[in-house]
Amino acid sequence: MKIVIPGGTGQIGVMLARAFQQAGHEVVVLSRHPRHAPWRVLTWDAETHGDWMAEIDGADVVINLAGRSVNCRYNAENRRLITASRVKSTQIVGEAIACATHPPSIWLQASTATIYAHRYDTPNDETTGILGGSEPHVPETWRFSIDVATAWEQTFNAAMTPHTRKVLLRSAITLSPDRGGIFDVLLGLVRVGLGGRAGDGKQYVSWIHDQDFIRSIFWLIEHDELVGPVNLAAPNPVPNAEFMRILRNAWGISIGLPAMNWMLEIGTFLLQTETELVLKSRRVIPGKLQQSGFTFQFPTWAAAAKDLCMRWRAMSAGKLTQATL
Ligand SMILES: NC(=O)c1ccc[n+]([C@@H]2O[C@H](COP(=O)([O-])OP(=O)(O)OC[C@H]3O[C@@H](n4cnc5c(N)ncnc54)[C@H](OP(=O)(O)O)[C@@H]3O)[C@@H](O)[C@H]2O)c1
Repeated sequence: MKIVIPGGTGQIGVMLARAFQQAGHEVVVLSRHPRHAPWRVLTWDAETHGDWMAEIDGADVVINLAGRSVNCRYNAENRRLITASRVKSTQIVGEAIACATHPPSIWLQASTATIYAHRYDTPNDETTGILGGSEPHVPETWRFSIDVATAWEQTFNAAMTPHTRKVLLRSAITLSPDRGGIFDVLLGLVRVGLGGRAGDGKQYVSWIHDQDFIRSIFWLIEHDELVGPVNLAAPNPVPNAEFMRILRNAWGISIGLPAMNWMLEIGTFLLQTETELVLKSRRVIPGKLQQSGFTFQFPTWAAAAKDLCMRWRAMSAGKLTQATL
């Protein structure tokens, strides 16, 4: 297969490009700042039509991951960039597919599990889940994330691509041992004794192991019956306090100082990010994936954390490179 990945230079894109290439497929990544990679990386500006569109014509799969990182302060300029980069890139990918003489058979579009409401009571699947935005007593910055996800999905849904199956990837945090990724950051806290609960620790963490994320993308490509929003999350989200306790156990450290809300406010300000990323309760389950018969290699956080710690250690010791993960 030929797979085109706009915005494929980040954590998820590199993971997928590596997996597709190792499986013998042709990978083309679109980037605003192309760098050397083991696959072809071509230039686009993520805003306008260009030569890059020829790569989509005749491709089998398009996976659009482009968008300014949400790991920043939600000031006016960042808000504009976060929203515009997602809406515009989705729009032009849709136009490229619509113009193609031989359109791809599937368009997988990044979205986020953050689109669901902040809640503790019942897990959100694609059918009965409650979308966020109208919860009482949540900070305004949390609503912004919902607005972004909604605008992103609306742009995708509005694209007229009748010959291409469309799937929205409502992904939970994707955990891999790669340096600079989310797991690496969390483990960094654990290793220095700061891996306690965040806030009251009751908020749910939805997560997915990198191997299951990759396997679910292959599954989505192979299963024509799967369309529209699909939750990419392990079936067992856990409250933050438990999530951190299991990670400490997997690493082999007993101490984990908790972070109170006020500490998180200061810490996230210093790190130029937002408390929403750790305090919002994301209780999301993979309804459609499981109904279609997909099975998780790492359904529980204990097994996933153990595997990720082991691979992180092997990478640190130089026994495992990112290319052989
Ligand atoms: N990682 C997760 O756990 C997770 C969970 C849920 C949803 N998602 C979503 O999945 C997508 C991929 O995730 P990721 O972690 O791989 O993201 P990432 O590391 O931030 O990479 C996204 C890519 O988007 C491009 N980009 C950045 N700013 C842009 C802008 N202003 N305009 C257009 N393109 C821009 C960049 O490529 P170039 O600089 O090369 O152009 C970058 O490599 C993102 O949209 C993210 O929101 C990720």
